[in-house]
Amino acid sequence: MKVTVVGAGYVGLVTGATLAERGHDVTCVDSDLPKVRMLEAGGVPIHEPGLPELLAGVRKSGRLGFGADVAAAAGGAEVVMMTVGTPTDPQGKADLSSVEAAARTIATGLRDYAVVVEKSTVPVRTGERVRRTMERNVRPGVEFDVASNPEFLREGTAVEDARKPSRIVLGVPNGRAEKVLRRLYEGFESPILVTNVETAEMIKHASNAFLATKISFVNAVSRLCEKSGANVEEVARGMGLDPRIGAQFLRAGVGYGGSCFAKDLEAFAEIASQLGYEFRLLREVQAVNREQRAHVVELLRQELWVLREKRVTLLGLAFKPDTDDVRDAPSLDVAQRLRAEGAIVRAHDPVAGAKAKAMLPDLDLAADPYAAADGADAVVLVTEWPAYKGLDFMRLRKVMRQPVIVDARNLWDPSAARAAGFHYRSIGRP
Ligand code: UGA
Repeated sequence: MKVTVVGAGYVGLVTGATLAERGHDVTCVDSDLPKVRMLEAGGVPIHEPGLPELLAGVRKSGRLGFGADVAAAAGGAEVVMMTVGTPTDPQGKADLSSVEAAARTIATGLRDYAVVVEKSTVPVRTGERVRRTMERNVRPGVEFDVASNPEFLREGTAVEDARKPSRIVLGVPNGRAEKVLRRLYEGFESPILVTNVETAEMIKHASNAFLATKISFVNAVSRLCEKSGANVEEVARGMGLDPRIGAQFLRAGVGYGGSCFAKDLEAFAEIASQLGYEFRLLREVQAVNREQRAHVVELLRQELWVLREKRVTLLGLAFKPDTDDVRDAPSLDVAQRLRAEGAIVRAHDPVAGAKAKAMLPDLDLAADPYAAADGADAVVLVTEWPAYKGLDFMRLRKVMRQPVIVDARNLWDPSAARAAGFHYRSIGRP
């Protein structure tokens, strides 16, 4: 099938490449010209395991092309996927201006029947607005349908997730659109759920909100563990063995970050409010997440007493391992809180240093964890990169001024850290 993907970000690029791998003829279009040029020249704009290999394979097959002209790429496509950004506006609502602009431009380009698919995360009822906008701009006689096919891939495992999605949700207005989208996903082994458009839109927001709720729940439990002598990891294991609860997303830590959860929770709470329902549970999930970032700084304060002029090393800047993405990363928040108290912050990250520096230009970056910890009064582990797991505690201790570790992701074994002479604090573990 001929497929056009509008927006070559995380979701667009990975989805486009995966569909090309399945034999579809895919064009990814983006308004960011330097990015398009980079992709055309064989570059990869993001750090995502497996993506360079996937792109190299499909480029060779000739089934993946790039461009900047949305209308031209939409003409002749059977499926047009919208994977443009939906950031949060100053009121907390999803800023849908890119979706609206894409809908208008796609409409002007369509020449034959096509299914226009919302793949970006959007508030419920956005499909209806897209359809109305397109109706006003499409050429006379050209038919189209608007569908919702939300994406569930995670950064760091995006390629694997796109190849084998946990489920394929097809929110469609009729059987004609359903047939087209079923053909698009022919050969995928994932369960397919067909719903109306609003339900599919809601499934995406509800899924992310539920996952964030699980994280805030376990973080709240971790606080109670710290006060009572219970161990949150064992509590999570004991809960997770119940299949009704499930073991995933019960890792206590510094809280969730990234480009999705915070934005989607805010937008979900906002659309709920607009529809006349105050989703107070989500507000509490957000509050627990904010508190958790502050709590990491509090643990440091408990150890160091005064933070002013203390040298604090942050290990890990990316919002999670295996990505260079620092959007809403807890590390940046913790760095700013520490600086506000007069601490001197230095950091290391295996890949996210440059992107973090773009956000905090005067961030002091070191080339490796030991250089970062040289002369430090404390190390705070913020992102659980596998490379940090086997850090040499003896070597670390030798270069530091005071032997203090706050492990905000429970990466290390407390007894190993203490055996090396560290004052070691983690989240919800005695
Ligand atoms: C999330 C969802 O997991 C995807 O299904 C969804 O498609 C995506 O958002 C999206 O809407 O685009 P992502 O943000 O890439 O994916 O990463 P996650 O693995 O969900 O992690 C989010 C944050 O939660 C990270 O900061 C991670 O460290 C944190 N987390 C995760 C915890 O603190 N504890 C856990 O147990 C799990």
